[in-house]
Amino acid sequence: MIKFIFISLSILVLYSCSDNSEKVTQLQNEVSELQKKVDDSYKPGFGEFMSNIQIHHAKLWFAGINQNWDLADFEINEIKESFDDLEKYQTKREETRMISMINIPLDSVNSAIQNKDLKSFKNYFVSLTKTCNACHLANHFEFNRIKIPETPPFSNQVFTKGNSK
Ligand code: HEC
Repeated sequence: MIKFIFISLSILVLYSCSDNSEKVTQLQNEVSELQKKVDDSYKPGFGEFMSNIQIHHAKLWFAGINQNWDLADFEINEIKESFDDLEKYQTKREETRMISMINIPLDSVNSAIQNKDLKSFKNYFVSLTKTCNACHLANHFEFNRIKIPETPPFSNQVFTKGNSK
C-alpha cells in the first residue's frame, strides 16, 4: 500500500512538474511577445523632444517679456515636462545623463516668473539659453545654436496679458 501511494505521488509530482514547465514556456512566450510590442511601440526621438522644447523656449520668452506671468508659468512647466519625458523615454542616449545641467537655469527663470520680476527673467533666460548651447557643444551638436527669439513663433497665439489682441 505504502509503495502504491509512493508511486502515485511520484507520478502526480512528475505530472504537475511537466504541466508547470509547459505553463512556464507559455508565459515566457507571452512575455517575449509583450516585450516585442513595447520595443516596437512609438517613442518620440531625442530631436523630437528638442523641437518641442524649442517651441516652448520661444513662447516662454514672449510670455515673459510681455509680463504674462500665467502663460510664462505654463510654458516653463512644458519645458520641464519635456526634459522629464526625455529622461524617461531616452534612457539609452548618453546625453540624457547630462540633463540635470538645465535644472538650475530653469529654477532661476521659474523664480523670476513667480516673483514677476522682468529684469531677472531676461537675465536668467539668457543663462538658460547659454545652457541649452553648452549641452549641444558638449555633445557635438554645437551647430544647433539657440538664441533669444526676435519674433513670436506663432501668429495665432496671443502672448500679451489679458484680452488684448
Ligand atoms: C542634456 C543636453 C541638452 C540640453 C540641456 C539641451 N539640448 Fe537641445 N539637443 C541636445 C541633443 C543631443 C540634440 C540632438 C538631438 C538629435 O539627435 O536629434 C539637441 C538638438 C536640439 C535642437 C534641434 C532639434 C531638431 O531636430 O531640429 C533644438 C532646436 C534644441 N536642441 C533646442 C534646445 C533648447 C531650446 C534647449 C534649452 C532650453 C536645449 N536644446 C537643451 C541636447 C540638449
